[in-house]
Amino acid sequence: MSAYQFIDHSYDVVVVGAGGAGLRATFGLANSGLSVANITKVFPTRSHTVAAQGGISAALGNMGEDDWRWHMYDTIKGSDWLGDQDAIEFMCKEAPAAILELEHYGLPFSRTEAGKIYQRPFGGMTTHFGKGTAHRTCAAADRTGHAMLHTLYQQALKHQAQFFIEYFAVDLIMENGECRGVIAIDMADGTLHRFKAHIVMLATGGYGRAYFSCTSAHTCTGDGGGMVLRAGLPLQDMEFVQFHPTGIYGSGCLITEGARGEGGILRNSEGEAFMERYAPNAKNLASRDVVSRAMTIEIREGRGVGAHKDHIFLHLEHLGADVLHQRLPGISETAKIFAGVDVTRQPIPVLPTVHYNMGGIPTNIHGEVVTLRDGNPDAVVPGLMAVGEAACVSVHGANRLGSNSLLDLVIFGREAARHCAEFVKPGTRHKPFAQDAGDFAVSRIDHYRNANGHQKTSDVRLNMQRVMQNHAAVFRTGESLQQGVDKLNQVIDSFADVSVSDRGLIWNTDLIETLELDNLLGQASATINSALNRTESRGAHAREDFPNRDDQNWMKHTLSWVDAQHKVALATRPVHMYTLTNDVEVVPPKARTY
Ligand code: FUM
Repeated sequence: MSAYQFIDHSYDVVVVGAGGAGLRATFGLANSGLSVANITKVFPTRSHTVAAQGGISAALGNMGEDDWRWHMYDTIKGSDWLGDQDAIEFMCKEAPAAILELEHYGLPFSRTEAGKIYQRPFGGMTTHFGKGTAHRTCAAADRTGHAMLHTLYQQALKHQAQFFIEYFAVDLIMENGECRGVIAIDMADGTLHRFKAHIVMLATGGYGRAYFSCTSAHTCTGDGGGMVLRAGLPLQDMEFVQFHPTGIYGSGCLITEGARGEGGILRNSEGEAFMERYAPNAKNLASRDVVSRAMTIEIREGRGVGAHKDHIFLHLEHLGADVLHQRLPGISETAKIFAGVDVTRQPIPVLPTVHYNMGGIPTNIHGEVVTLRDGNPDAVVPGLMAVGEAACVSVHGANRLGSNSLLDLVIFGREAARHCAEFVKPGTRHKPFAQDAGDFAVSRIDHYRNANGHQKTSDVRLNMQRVMQNHAAVFRTGESLQQGVDKLNQVIDSFADVSVSDRGLIWNTDLIETLELDNLLGQASATINSALNRTESRGAHAREDFPNRDDQNWMKHTLSWVDAQHKVALATRPVHMYTLTNDVEVVPPKARTY
């Protein structure tokens, strides 16, 4: 290992990732007097949160009556009763205060005539426990994530957080089951950095790029999840992958659910507004799993549009140019660029597209990573926390409601920082590292940098993406999933024969993409094996051979461990069917209503 020298750093807390959750945690930590470093592989305002469009949910009641208890009920029902009810209660109850805090930090929300924060309806968001439609999603036009990211980055700079920008985090430093730090490579000059911290907080986002067509940025390679798996820790509920109903056909770019919130309508080749058949009450604003399945059925039954009858039209023309300009300017431009469509006159061609990972690194409501240890399913991993899409807290269960993601980032980023400040005293001395701290990361870098096989990284990645797209799709069967597992194992075997052509360390994108692919392969494997194992349908996991939800046997979280050969071991963890306070009773499972 002597060819590689470390540059050493010490902080109270190191946050990996500078999207919404990472930034909210970073400035919360800095604000409480802790020394904090943020390691990010892209410039913070280019993080994938920038792509979030439609808004952030909170029962403010600015545009009609609302109550956080209705929000809680909707989120539990939307999760198909796999969400942890204590975490959901915490998120929904804290939401209004967290939004007003963002407003005070300077987030430029759209406004009502009365000057209040503008709120639009989103799928599955109701009043009176399912009876009416809630206007709950607070929006900055259709660029809410963009506005949020800039606001949070400004706050982090104001509080003197230190950023390590365009650094790629390679692996955690674990000692006797405790996280002591993290190794990162400065991509610009190839130097290796060893960060010592009392807490490492992973805020690295999802792994959408395991699929061929997704709304996720190319950077969404699940780097935190990959590090956790290599540390011998499990991921949770990886079988639950959300397909957003309206990705642009061909490119996968997101067209916000806010478009349907403003009145947009999905139509098939017969011009029928078919959602009225599938969800007579919620119609186009049914939850995403329901709409994605309905669209897939329409296409399968020959009512798709286009030359190949393989997509659906989203009509916005009837909303009028003024509404489109004021409320949906971003997607109007995206539709023009990526579909060649003028939304004031033509429908947008759309298709369900991978959008979000409900699964991730299991945590409690404070963001502490948990694992199954000596029969305890809530055993905390010392020194390690996770927030945002990388984590599974689990407020989304089997299916996330639109606009609950930005809320999750803000609430749990904020809570994780608050919790750290409670038990880390600023400037506490660090124990020295073990002799071999960082050797594991270096051995992986060295291995891939000198990889001399016959397979290109891009080819292995494409093969993985095709398997996932075809075999872990909107609808699944045991047979197709088993074929997918077999094919993915072949892809994984081929990765052992990968070749990296650039032997340098300076801007070696070939090496970085290979390390990212390693992260993706582990999570792809966890996803498809967990999906094969779960013999029921719940939320985004729709098994045609097991069409019913089976609460008797399956109201439980899946835990998945993936070893160095990407082979998967599975176990389960109970769903938290209890709340934190007596404000709301536990919401008991109900039969499906769709
Ligand atoms: O449709 C959207 O604007 C996406 C929002 C979300 O995923 O929460």
